[in-house]
Amino acid sequence: MSENIIYCYSGAGHCLDMAKTIAKGLGDTDIVMMRSFPAKTDATEAKRVGFIFSCMAGGLPGDVESYVKAIQIAPGTYTFAVEQYAGYLGCGLRKIDEIVPLNYWAGVSNHSTAIWLMPHTLTLAPKSLDKAQQRVDKKAAKLVTDVLAGKRSERRPSKAKPFELMSKGLGQSHARRVGKFAADDTCNGCGLCASLCPRGNIRIEGGKPVFGSNCMGCLSCVQLCPEAALNIGNITKKRARIPDKNVSAAELMEKIIHIE
Ligand SMILES: Cc1cc2nc3c(=O)[nH]c(=O)nc-3n(C[C@H](O)[C@H](O)[C@H](O)COP(=O)(O)O)c2cc1C
Repeated sequence: MSENIIYCYSGAGHCLDMAKTIAKGLGDTDIVMMRSFPAKTDATEAKRVGFIFSCMAGGLPGDVESYVKAIQIAPGTYTFAVEQYAGYLGCGLRKIDEIVPLNYWAGVSNHSTAIWLMPHTLTLAPKSLDKAQQRVDKKAAKLVTDVLAGKRSERRPSKAKPFELMSKGLGQSHARRVGKFAADDTCNGCGLCASLCPRGNIRIEGGKPVFGSNCMGCLSCVQLCPEAALNIGNITKKRARIPDKNVSAAELMEKIIHIE
């Protein structure tokens, strides 16, 4: 059993990159992925349990809320969480805190990674990728120091009520967009999108991806397609893909990544 467990949700790899950086700082850490049901829910022997995830539509991504409810943590375990966001923190940290009371939490803006997909104007202006990476790495280093010192946050994360309502509308907004996913002529049928999809919502037929109706909006398929051949209607056609450069598609598909 590893000394630390970090439960991680990541769509384009940015949260997984941060989880790896933090795990290296803490040492002896299992990163358990939460893109689908976590392969390990018994965290009772870990000394520290963390959560790293992205803000999605103001709330928790995918099925993270139900996954966190399934995790067992022993009383007295040190708990921490980090949320990445593009423009606002939303209610995700509070949702985790209501299930697993957090000793320590932090948010970090990584808005260069998602500005291209935001359907509204609430996000901040994009930073350069290098600056965004530096900020995330700096935050990760501080978090490692604080977590190893057993630091405690003075208050709980904000309830952020308006964002709770917004996140509830996520299912509807994705239902509307699902019909718009399509591959263009540059698609070579490599099938990476189908392998990456945490919900098995993409199948390859006649050498092209076919999208089902069970999309949770992680956008791994759009972001990591080697040919940038996948689009959501016209909105993504002229926008850059920004998968995390330190995370491979193979890593995103892992269930557990152990870092010594
Ligand atoms: C579908 C989708 C919805 C998002 N919604 C929000 C949001 O409501 N507020 C926000 O600040 N960031 C939002 N983001 C931005 C992500 O939280 C941010 O880019 C994060 O760094 C992505 O990390 P990942 O690559 O590990 O998934 C959204 C990203 C996606 C893909």
